[in-house]
This record gives sequence, structure tokens and C-alpha cells, in this order.
Amino acid sequence: MSVEKFGPVRVGLLGIGTVGAGTFEVLSRNQAEITRRAGRRIEITRVADLDIARARALVGDSVRVDADARGLVADPSIDIVIELIGGYGVARELVMAAIENGKHVVTANKALLAVHGNEIFAAASRKGVMVAFEAAVAGGIPIIKALREGLTANRIEWIAGIINGTTNFILSEMRDKGLPFDAVLAQAQQLGYAEADPTFDIEGIDAGHKITILSSIAFGIPVRFDKAHIEGITGLESIDIRYAEQLGYRIKLLGVTRRRVHDGQVQGIELRVHPTLIPARRLIANVEGAMNAVWVKGDAVGHTMYYGKGAGSEPTASAVVADLVDISRMLTADPDNRVPHLAFQTESLVDVPILPIGETETAYYLRLRVADEPGVLADITRILADAGISIDAVLQREPAEGESQTDIILLTHRTIEKQVDGAIARIEALSTVLSRATRIRLEELN
Ligand code: HSE
Repeated sequence: MSVEKFGPVRVGLLGIGTVGAGTFEVLSRNQAEITRRAGRRIEITRVADLDIARARALVGDSVRVDADARGLVADPSIDIVIELIGGYGVARELVMAAIENGKHVVTANKALLAVHGNEIFAAASRKGVMVAFEAAVAGGIPIIKALREGLTANRIEWIAGIINGTTNFILSEMRDKGLPFDAVLAQAQQLGYAEADPTFDIEGIDAGHKITILSSIAFGIPVRFDKAHIEGITGLESIDIRYAEQLGYRIKLLGVTRRRVHDGQVQGIELRVHPTLIPARRLIANVEGAMNAVWVKGDAVGHTMYYGKGAGSEPTASAVVADLVDISRMLTADPDNRVPHLAFQTESLVDVPILPIGETETAYYLRLRVADEPGVLADITRILADAGISIDAVLQREPAEGESQTDIILLTHRTIEKQVDGAIARIEALSTVLSRATRIRLEELN
């Protein structure tokens, strides 16, 4: 007996690079099972790509292939457009045109959604079409589905994610081999883990796009990439990875978003990406290499963690095809009764302010190069105490024979960032403190 209740869903693919090729392959290979799940066949019937010969070689003769992306998004025979071009330029124009033409859209483009998501979702709601983006965050990990549907009973308290594989690979190598950042980056580029221009990855921008999207879904707020605080890993020194290790911590590039509540009042949302010390005993601290993981704390469910490949042809295709199935199942549903793009009903989104980084509350790792003299530690701890900053741990490197300087490492309890910055300025003014302080944020994740 046929499981096909309706005719096939026809899909147009914009850009058949690594992920596009994976999507075509997974859809073809698993067609029978996917049809049993979706209740109808899902067929890529048209591909637009500048490299027509390569595209043709990948999809064969039964699919229309040309370089006419604008023609594809206007093609009346197409139900769903998959956008795998990337970037904010032509991709934005094509996605908006597809929506205006009444097409549903599947995209892996986190940059586009983090920067222009509000405009795109508003247009999609007006036209009654779906924009699905599971592949935009953490590749194959179904984190959008988990947050938007599986955890829908919860008030989400915070999310902390390793959501950039390139930087996690670099940090893992720096720790394992004790190598400096530049050497590991060059190696990552040779192995194909890092792009020729790795700026978006190593400066934390890619992770910033992803945590921005997760924050919106978690808290029911508009996408606010412009308000995110973003630091990458280019300034990270191997010595801090080693000291962190001695204190029982690992350093990861985390995307963090947290709803700050005080006396029952929501003060704002923290939205940030930066190198972070996390306890080595936490599961997420042991996510190594190019793998991704997202940790979500909900008030009802408690701690949950999602782990998997954050990039790559078929892992990302897994998410793209899941979105195709979701859309195919909901094509005939009343638009008002579909799962909302950002998990909350559009009219229920609340523009809770994103807190400036100075108002962030977290713990800190401080490394100070100091003269090895009596009273130095006392002066430093007095300044911290005067600022109301409580110390959790202190480590002092044993100076080598005849050495007159040493390193002092302090871990603080949670405190407001601007207070720490003020204290650091006073500490750096001490004549016994010999260089700028190194300050890295620390999250216990409990
Ligand atoms: N460049 C990303 C990463 C993969 O390194 O994780 C795509 O989002």
C-alpha cells in the first residue's frame, strides 16, 4: 500500500556545494524511508548554481540545472526553496523573493538569520510561509527542534554552547600539544578544518550568529546580533590553558545566553561569545576537536546536553532534510497553527533588553605578572575585597632560581564585570604588578 497521501513536494536548491550535494545524496539514498515519514515524496526538481557542469554531474539529467537563481525562486512549480548560498547579500535578496512568491524556505544561513531574521520572519508570517533553519545552528544537532518543541514546557534559564568546530579544534590542539594559536591555526587550515579566511570562526562571529538565534528561541525575543558581545580566541595564550588545567578547568569558546532574574524581575538577557573556563569534570568540557555541543538548563527539565557534528556535508544535510520533512508535513496546516519560527507566537515576542557586557555576571580567571616581593598578594586581594569581589582560588607559580618575578592566578566568585574591570585598573596601577592583567571569564555551569 502506498504511504503517499499527496503528490510530491517539489524543491528548488540554490547552491549545490558541500551541503547541497549532501542534501541531494541523503534525499536520494533514504527516499523510501523519508517518504514513509513525510507521507509524500520530496524531490529536488531544480538546482541553480554558477558551476552548471559540476551541478549536472551531481544530480544527473532528471533535474533542471541552470545558473538562474532568480528564475528558480519565481518558478511556479517549486514549493520549497533551499538556500545554501550563504552570506547576507544575494542570499537575502533570494530568500525575500522566494517568500514574496509564496515559497517555503529552508536555509543553513546563520549570518543571514542573525542579522536580518526579524525582517525575514515578519515577511514569512505575512505570506503564511515557513522559514526553517535547523542547519543554521550546530549543523546536524537538532537543537532548534529540541528548544522549540521538546523543551517547550520550560522556562529556559541559560544556554551554553560549543557551536564553532574550527575554534574547538584549535583549542583542543593547543591544549593537547601545548602549541601556540598561530601554529595550530596554520595546521587547521592545512587539514581543511579552518577556512582560508578564518575570520568569522576565530573572531567568534560565527558562534555569535548561532547563539543569537538560540537566544531568540529560548527567550522569545527578536534576533539581536547587533547587541551581542563577541570575543574570539586570537588573543588566547597557551600558558592560560595550562594554568586553567592546573586549577581543574578547560578553556572553551562558549556562546552563552542567560535570562538574568533578580527578585523575580527579569533584568535582561546576556548574549555573549568569549573564551571561557569551565570545570574539566563537566561533560561539555570534554567535547574535543571539531565537535559541537549545546547545554541547555530549563527550570523543569534541569540540565540537558546535545552533542554531534556541527558541520560537514551529510551532518548538515541531515538537518536540511529534516526541515524539508517538517515543512512537507505542515504544508496543509493553517499557518496560525504551525510551530512559530522563534518558538513563541509572533505577537508574544518581547523585546527584553540585551544587557551590556559591563552588566554581565560571571566568575573570572585573572593572571598577573608580579614582582616576587612580600605584600604583593595582600595588596591585590585588598583591592578585590574593596570592590566586593570574593576570591575562590589562588595559584602562585614557584619562581625559578634567581627569578624576581612570578605569576599569580586568581579565580573569583561571580561578580558584575564592570566591578572586576575597575579592580583590575587599580591592580595594574600597583608598582609591583609588572604587566597588563589577563582576564578570562569563568562559568561553573551549575
Ligand atoms: N565554520 C563553522 C564551524 C561551521 O567551524 O563550526 C559552519 O557553521
